[in-house]
Amino acid sequence: MARTKIKDILNSDKTDYSVTIKGWVRSFRNNQFIAMNDGSCLNNLQAVIDLGTDEAIVKRITTGAALSINGTVVASLGKGQKVEIKADSVEILGDCDNEKYPLQLKNRPSLEYLREIAHLRFRTNTFGAVFRVRHTLAYAIHKFFHERGFVYMHTPIITASDAEGAGEMFRVTTLPFDGTPRKEDGTVDYAEDFFGRSTNLTVSGQLEGELAAMAFGEIYTFGPTFRAENSNTARHLAEFWMIEPEVAFADLKDNMDLAEDFIQYVIKYALENCREDLEFLQTRLQDEEKQKSQNERSEMALIEKLEFVLANKFERITYTQAIDILLDSPAYKKKKFLYEVKWGIDMQSEHERYLVEKHFKKPVIVTDYPKDIKSFYMRMNEDGKTVAAMDILAPGIGEIVGGSQREERYELLVQRMEEMGVPVEEMSWFLDTRRFGSAPHAGFGLGFERLVLFVTGMTNIRDVIPFPRTPKNAEF
Ligand code: 4AD
Ligand code: MG
Repeated sequence: MARTKIKDILNSDKTDYSVTIKGWVRSFRNNQFIAMNDGSCLNNLQAVIDLGTDEAIVKRITTGAALSINGTVVASLGKGQKVEIKADSVEILGDCDNEKYPLQLKNRPSLEYLREIAHLRFRTNTFGAVFRVRHTLAYAIHKFFHERGFVYMHTPIITASDAEGAGEMFRVTTLPFDGTPRKEDGTVDYAEDFFGRSTNLTVSGQLEGELAAMAFGEIYTFGPTFRAENSNTARHLAEFWMIEPEVAFADLKDNMDLAEDFIQYVIKYALENCREDLEFLQTRLQDEEKQKSQNERSEMALIEKLEFVLANKFERITYTQAIDILLDSPAYKKKKFLYEVKWGIDMQSEHERYLVEKHFKKPVIVTDYPKDIKSFYMRMNEDGKTVAAMDILAPGIGEIVGGSQREERYELLVQRMEEMGVPVEEMSWFLDTRRFGSAPHAGFGLGFERLVLFVTGMTNIRDVIPFPRTPKNAEF
């Protein structure tokens, strides 16, 4: 008999029908009650086995073992579940040695500990919930863009350009470390390398995305991006996923509207489709917050926070206004900020958090940043000092989106590239868009894991990606 997913059994009131379920034992009580989980949902399904079941089988029903259970769905007499399975037969698919299985630990294993045990992590309620929510968000993202007629563009993972111009790239090469081929002047001879040139893992699909937008009008990318920045924080990964829409004939305002609609849409979709998991994560977060001091605790519960984001427009301010707010803040006057505040700074996370969590208490879109702290491709404003950039800052996260209107004017773009040391010659394929039918356009990048952090209420970015890559850590 084909297996039925536990989610479908639990979501239905139907009883008195035969099923086969396959999953893993979460607990086994009184040699009779098996709590089964198959990953389809948070809740376990209880299977009740006959007291007369073969003792050799009963012995092998241990936490973590994989079982196939055949039986009848019946109304449950026990509390906490509507239905359960009256088992006719139990087949052991895979034994689990409980002497060695760490989920036996009576104390709830810590998130840090679970990060080191890859197979176990997925089997916990917390990570089950997180990764089902992550999946649902990914689906909602494709759905959002598809419904609006955007074309999903697969931009390359291996590239020769540094899209952000920040020099934080992982090199891709097949050249040997010993006896590296060198040119007469002693520099590495990349002509000998696999691609015949120096290449790296992409930091962003934007530049290639722009080419596609100049033909399809509206495109988005959704893929892995890599940054070799040595930031060991709870917000940075060396490998993360980014969604980058790029829209022709759009300006900064259109870009902000799109980003806001987009974020609200996917959060709404998660609220509608992941209720059980989000409720679980909300309770988990409340437990965790009990360890914190009163003023460190969030004012809203997780679901309330998400509903608040749906119900309220994001605040929109310019960078210059943001700096004025900071300079005028009690935190600044009481010298609470560690980093300097003045026009021209790259705002630190303490500044962003002040704006979002203390001042506005909601997501904030900051626009028109000084040109010197932003990338070469952003459109120069009339003032010649600022560019048409936008960052979205989210409570508890900080920057979740970075984007801009693009510099579509060829001369101005080349000038910026030269000023910022971006190799104009090598980028002629990109500059071609500005030579042949250039048009105003805009786009942004949303850090997928930062979105998942926001929606799940998890606090460390390592806990919202299945296999985190961070400095000195690429296990599994
Ligand atoms: O602000 P960033 O660097 O923007 C770009 O890469 C542009 N090319 C996007 C565009 O306009 N198409 O990165 C965009 C977002 C950030 O706002 C942040 O959410 C996320 O990507 N991000 C990271 N997430 C996790 N770990 C890191 N190391 C990240 N660096 C950026
Ligand atoms: Mg940014």
